[in-house]
Amino acid sequence: MEIKKVGIVGCGLMGSGVAEVCAKTGYKTIVREISEEALKKGESRILKSLDKAIEKGKATAEQKKQALDNLSFTTKLEDLKEVDLVIEAAVENMEEKKKVFKTLDGLCPPHTIFASNTSSLSIVEMGSVTKRISKILGMHFFNPVPVMKLVELVKPITISEEVFETAKKFALSLGKTAIIAKDTPGFIVNLLLIPYLLDAVRAVESGVATKEDIDTGMTMGCGHPMGPITLLDFVGLDTTYFIAEAMYQEFKDTRYAAPPLLKTMVLAGYNGRKVGRGFYTYQ
Ligand SMILES: NC(=O)c1ccc[n+]([C@@H]2O[C@H](COP(=O)([O-])OP(=O)(O)OC[C@H]3O[C@@H](n4cnc5c(N)ncnc54)[C@H](O)[C@@H]3O)[C@@H](O)[C@H]2O)c1
Repeated sequence: MEIKKVGIVGCGLMGSGVAEVCAKTGYKTIVREISEEALKKGESRILKSLDKAIEKGKATAEQKKQALDNLSFTTKLEDLKEVDLVIEAAVENMEEKKKVFKTLDGLCPPHTIFASNTSSLSIVEMGSVTKRISKILGMHFFNPVPVMKLVELVKPITISEEVFETAKKFALSLGKTAIIAKDTPGFIVNLLLIPYLLDAVRAVESGVATKEDIDTGMTMGCGHPMGPITLLDFVGLDTTYFIAEAMYQEFKDTRYAAPPLLKTMVLAGYNGRKVGRGFYTYQ
């Protein structure tokens, strides 16, 4: 089966990046958000990212034009009814994701493949509300999607080999390197990353050191490109909190329990770089 048309659900940090990469690769890409305001915000994020790529010599004005020609935007889920592949990148909440897939299952033709960009949630559970459980997988991209070369393909026990191979071919066509993980909370990367990020918050919380020194410790001491506190701001404190909660619910292991400071910051709306304030403040 050949994928020509892609539907993206959600145009936040991740959805906008996935949409940009799909459109740049040549796929007709339609993006759905819940409001005009969110859609405008996502669209301007894509434009800014394309302009940045041109500035850095990584794309041409012609490639930007081609990408924009391939992109369209909507607030209606029904407008995704003719796509060959859906990539869901809505908020990290099982009920929201199930609602999206259940509705799309009733709208899309039988051949349409469903993929979720979830960081931690069960793919089989999402598929259980549809009549196409053999056609759903996880396609976990990394932030910022146009720059990060990795995609984690999450292979549930229910998927057909043919569908998985089609999805893998698609991911590779985006210029990504694919790794394959089981459908288990956090897959490979977040299974290891989330306890590390939560430990960094605990270190701030208990006064081990300043956030700046914790970041410097991990960049200069371990050669990481950014420290854990900066990375938390980059990923989004709300998203990290939702991922930790989901993993804690599954494993009941305190390594995944969100520290009170993280919860407080999320409740305060200090969700990181995307809103201008997290552990650090941004222009
Ligand atoms: N932030 C990261 O680094 C990262 C990395 C990999 C995967 N993810 C995953 O990607 C998904 C999105 O994360 P994000 O960082 O882009 O979050 P975000 O908060 O930046 O964006 C989420 C967007 O989804 C929209 N949305 C919510 N419900 C929707 C619906 N029913 N239909 C369409 N849009 C809807 C919201 O309006 C919002 O704009 C989550 O599942 C997250 O776990 C995040």
